[in-house]
Amino acid sequence: MITVALAKGRLAEESSDLLVKCGIPAEVIKSDTRKLVLASPDDEFHFFLVKPSDVPTYVEYGIADMGIVGKDTLLESGADLYEMLDLKYEACKLCVAGFPDRKNSVTNTHLRVATKYVNTAKNLYAARGEDIEIIPLHGSIELAPVTGLADVIFDIVQTGSTLKANGLAVLEEIYDISARLVVNKVSLKTKAKEILPIIAKMRENI
Ligand code: PRP
Repeated sequence: MITVALAKGRLAEESSDLLVKCGIPAEVIKSDTRKLVLASPDDEFHFFLVKPSDVPTYVEYGIADMGIVGKDTLLESGADLYEMLDLKYEACKLCVAGFPDRKNSVTNTHLRVATKYVNTAKNLYAARGEDIEIIPLHGSIELAPVTGLADVIFDIVQTGSTLKANGLAVLEEIYDISARLVVNKVSLKTKAKEILPIIAKMRENI
């Protein structure tokens, strides 16, 4: 039996379509239920529906043999697992954004960066040797520069409509983001017979 952790919501629905295309009976993922463990009819697969940020944790600890999750979540988690495939869907970019005419700090000390991606932002600016202040937020990140809470944001841009609606623009594109297939390091060895053909089929169907 193979266990698969999936990020609840749109990512899980797209993942269900891909898994079905690969011959895995994953239709159950789309069922309207509050159950969090969903078994395929043949009981060969158990799917766990979890918050996106919890997918790397379930996979790292081997509770899930595999998982599908956004690259943004992987970067932020730093979990010890294998990233096997770029599945290409849910594509967007992780960007620095703000007011185009106010690129530098309004406080004239250090740049204040509002973000949900605290670890990723810290790593980015540390690698550049820039001393910044992170303002951790959980959503509506674009509000931070609009209200003066931060100078810039470090956030996902998909259509760009949220930035535009708030008078903001992309200042720098940092990472290409998309859904990724991840695998537990031990499972890849102990369940290679089951997992490797799944990876091969997924590669064909991307
Ligand atoms: C995400 C992200 C941006 C927006 C980008 O927020 O944090 O705010 O989507 O998408 P766009 O470029 O297509 O406008 P989400 O919708 O997840 O909500 P949140 O503000 O609660 O984080």
